[in-house]
Amino acid sequence: MTTLDVTHVRAQYPAFDHPETSRWAYFENAGGSYVPRQVSERLHRFFTEYKVQPSGYSYMQQQAAQAMDAGYAAVAAMIDADPEEITLGPSTTINLYVLAQALRPRLSAGDEIIVTNQDHEANIGCWRRLEEFGAVLREWRIDPETGELDANDLKALVNNRTRILCFNLCSNIVGSMNDVATICDIARAAGAITIADGVSYAPHHFPDVHALGPDFIVFSTYKTFATHLGVLWGKPEQLSALTPQGHFFNADKPHYRLNPAGPLHAEIGALAGLCQYIQDLHRHHFPERSGEPLRTRTETMFDLFSAHETNLANRILDFARERRDLRIVGRDRAEPRGRAGTIALVPGKQTPDRLARSLAECRVAVGAGHFYAVRCLKALGISPESGVLRISLVHYNSAHDVHQLLTALDEVLQ
Ligand SMILES: Cc1ncc(COP(=O)(O)O)c(C=O)c1O
Repeated sequence: MTTLDVTHVRAQYPAFDHPETSRWAYFENAGGSYVPRQVSERLHRFFTEYKVQPSGYSYMQQQAAQAMDAGYAAVAAMIDADPEEITLGPSTTINLYVLAQALRPRLSAGDEIIVTNQDHEANIGCWRRLEEFGAVLREWRIDPETGELDANDLKALVNNRTRILCFNLCSNIVGSMNDVATICDIARAAGAITIADGVSYAPHHFPDVHALGPDFIVFSTYKTFATHLGVLWGKPEQLSALTPQGHFFNADKPHYRLNPAGPLHAEIGALAGLCQYIQDLHRHHFPERSGEPLRTRTETMFDLFSAHETNLANRILDFARERRDLRIVGRDRAEPRGRAGTIALVPGKQTPDRLARSLAECRVAVGAGHFYAVRCLKALGISPESGVLRISLVHYNSAHDVHQLLTALDEVLQ
């Protein structure tokens, strides 16, 4: 069975060649990931060769426009969508804010919106604001012990006034992946639109928008090894029913109608590098299968990624399970498509911030805080002020990184 060649993977990343950066074990990937040379070289080329307004007849303008078209096409092919179904905005937070405004005219006073208390605030706050316009907000709450959402609780919340259901594919704190098919079935039966935050899911399983099923899926490419952008995908029939949010003369332009900020030229122009990276890795691991559709190759590579990540995550979870001074948030076993290697820990003796600082002295980078999932932490009985220690890994993390982390943790927890 083919397994991930992590040495080859890491050879694609300039960060691992840098004399200082390469000495660090980096475990704050859920906050933002490194980029492979396929992406950084494209960004460099954009800035040095054709960093101009990308419309017009000059060589530079045409190159810039082509690079941007390639960016849209690449992401679309990777998620099995049409480029016209995609908006590339500056971030997921603003994309969701704009989406809420674009859906608002379809709501009447008394219509209900369900949000969770497990999500990042990006998929809660913009929907709660619609209360100002008469929408009624309902909260689908996690189990305070497990941090998990129960579909039976959702069934009890849904009724004939439910119009919108917002949830996440994977929580950035609890780490478990939600049962998207069941959630979408419940919403569909009630005639509700589903909005799925895929930010914490996409680095582990690049979304297949049709296989997953929600009406809208969002994620952030700066956490999936590319430039800083937010992807907003929607089903064509849903997109066409939205009120455009850009300039009036751009209302019919698919990439502009939900992007009042306007596209970030160079960031989009470098995005095809992500697709190139996945293709290059696929060719390395499966040289005889290069004719397969891009979505199939993407899926194959992300399956390899997640098998590797699961293995590493379980070493960290095994370590944490043995310690009385660490509480693991969520499930204590990682599983592909079950629980990601986004591991939140609550230390018994020191604050998460103190621990993160001590780990940094051992050249181990982790996160500490609430990660904008304030409601989730509160529901779990964890103070958002002190928060959690978050160790989040992706496919380029190595067994050596985990060794460096566990050795340092052992030392600093004394
Ligand atoms: C689960 C989740 N959703 C949404 C966001 C917001 O994404 P962005 O930073 O692109 O606005 C984040 C960012 O950390 C996140 O982790």
